[in-house]
Amino acid sequence: MRFLHLISALCSASLAAAWTTYVVPHSPGNDDTPALAAALAANKSLLTDATILFQKGITYNISTPISFPKLQNVVVSIEGNITYAADIKKTQAIVKSSSFPGHWFTFSGTNVTLAGSQDPNWGWVNANGQKWWDAMQKVSSRVNRPHGWAFKGVTNGEIVNMKLWQPVAWSFSVSGSDNVHIHNNTIIAVSYSSSSPSNTDAFDAGGTNLLFENNVVYNGDDCLAVGSPASNIVFRNSYCNGGHGLSVGSLGKGGAVADVQNILRIRFTGQGSRVGPEVKELLKSTIIECLLDISDRIPLFSITWSNITLKKVKLPIYVTQHYWDQNVGKEPTNSSYQTSTSIDTITFQNFQGTIDDSKGNGVTGSTGKEVVVFDLFQGTAKSLLAKTISTTTVSGSNVMVMCDPSTVSNDVGFKCWDGLYEPTAAGA
Ligand SMILES: *[C@@H]1O[C@H](CO)[C@@H](O)[C@H](O)[C@H]1NC(C)=O
Ligand SMILES: *[C@@H]1O[C@H](CO)[C@@H](O)[C@H](O)[C@H]1NC(C)=O
Ligand SMILES: *[C@@H]1O[C@H](CO)[C@@H](O)[C@H](O)[C@H]1NC(C)=O
Ligand SMILES: *[C@@H]1O[C@H](CO)[C@@H](O)[C@H](O)[C@H]1NC(C)=O
Ligand SMILES: *[C@@H]1O[C@H](CO)[C@@H](O)[C@H](O)[C@H]1NC(C)=O
Ligand SMILES: *[C@@H]1O[C@H](CO)[C@@H](O)[C@H](O)[C@H]1NC(C)=O
Ligand SMILES: *[C@@H]1O[C@H](CO)[C@@H](O)[C@H](O)[C@H]1NC(C)=O
Repeated sequence: MRFLHLISALCSASLAAAWTTYVVPHSPGNDDTPALAAALAANKSLLTDATILFQKGITYNISTPISFPKLQNVVVSIEGNITYAADIKKTQAIVKSSSFPGHWFTFSGTNVTLAGSQDPNWGWVNANGQKWWDAMQKVSSRVNRPHGWAFKGVTNGEIVNMKLWQPVAWSFSVSGSDNVHIHNNTIIAVSYSSSSPSNTDAFDAGGTNLLFENNVVYNGDDCLAVGSPASNIVFRNSYCNGGHGLSVGSLGKGGAVADVQNILRIRFTGQGSRVGPEVKELLKSTIIECLLDISDRIPLFSITWSNITLKKVKLPIYVTQHYWDQNVGKEPTNSSYQTSTSIDTITFQNFQGTIDDSKGNGVTGSTGKEVVVFDLFQGTAKSLLAKTISTTTVSGSNVMVMCDPSTVSNDVGFKCWDGLYEPTAAGA
């Protein structure tokens, strides 16, 4: 008996020694980044088999960016609140400097978990976005905005239970990572003034084997933006409100070889609000934007959007090739712009719900009552299909479509014209 006890005591002692829990120190009134960065640099035991804990009961002040050294089997636990610096000019100067790591929080390594608190009152990251959105009415404030959280080249990662309150702009990026599960996160980028929460993309997904599920997003830009290279991305059972929905192709500006392919399977259902009635239900649209500029043409191949519930969405399905970087001038007119994007095997199926037709949807020549707009160049798209689509307009008037039959080569699931939505054999 004694012997057994001794063994078990030794075992638990060695286990306890192997795992380090480090509580991030806090110094009231000061920036907490330097002390954390210094501890991580000085103390290799924090980088392997460790929990780095932002403690409950504390509001940390992360006024300057923090780039974690390469981690292995590490949980970064956000049990306390975190605030960014409130000073826009200072933050812009940091973002502009050549030493800025690209994001406010950067992680790399293997087996990395970023976990928020399950206590509704704690674990919130407040980036003071409202100040930025109000200031952004002036063009000078639109520059040098900090991106939020990056998993940069993480293999085997998890981002769970994170809660972001008024992020300045782009929230999570997992570009270049492999096998990451991003789930049960909440992002609230809702403006309480007339200023729009611009560029508050929730999840930027370049990478491989990424699973996004059970996330709740209120924002003013893409809920998911798939960039390149990317493959095997699943986004399901999530709620996106107020932004541009699920986009492919608007990322990768000036970036890597275009390779958005394989299976992007999206199961998307509105699950109602978890943040209270003051936030209006307005999921604007599910958009596929095929390209950002002429140098960045992304072939889209084998993508399925399915089981999507729409609640007052302005333009549920929008595929456009007229998409270019408006910062560099007018829309290009040459032939390479018109022929170098290709679309192959894209399916939209099981869409149900309502279209907000109270105002226009922004597409030239539209009625504002369209469930689908296919805006394509000739000879660029094959096997584009919208099937089992069952939507109504809020006003009760007929649902419409826009589609130029000279640009499609198959039965797209509805009569391809600018007119009433009339399902065909392939769309029933
Ligand atoms: C955050 O740190 C800055 C200095 O970087 C300081 O001016 C500010 O008061 C701190 N805020 C809090 C809430 O501690
Ligand atoms: C290194 O981490 C250990 C374990 O948490 C801690 O006791 C020690 O103070 C840390 N050292 C530094 C320099 O932060
Ligand atoms: C990552 O976690 C898995 C599963 O626990 C483990 O088998 C693997 O050895 C870990 N990888 C590293 C580099 O520690
Ligand atoms: C998911 O997040 C919510 C809200 O932050 C939290 O209350 C809940 O416990 C989380 N669920 C799981 C399974 O972690
Ligand atoms: C944590 O931050 C959230 C969002 O800003 C806030 O609502 C909550 O009151 C804060 N919690 C505490 C205990 O200060
Ligand atoms: C969509 O819903 C149908 C019917 O409920 C189900 O059979 C199918 O597996 C779902 N598709 C996805 C991708 O979840
Ligand atoms: C087409 O126009 C774009 C933008 O104006 C330009 O960058 C590109 O070089 C042009 N391509 C050709 C083949 O002329």
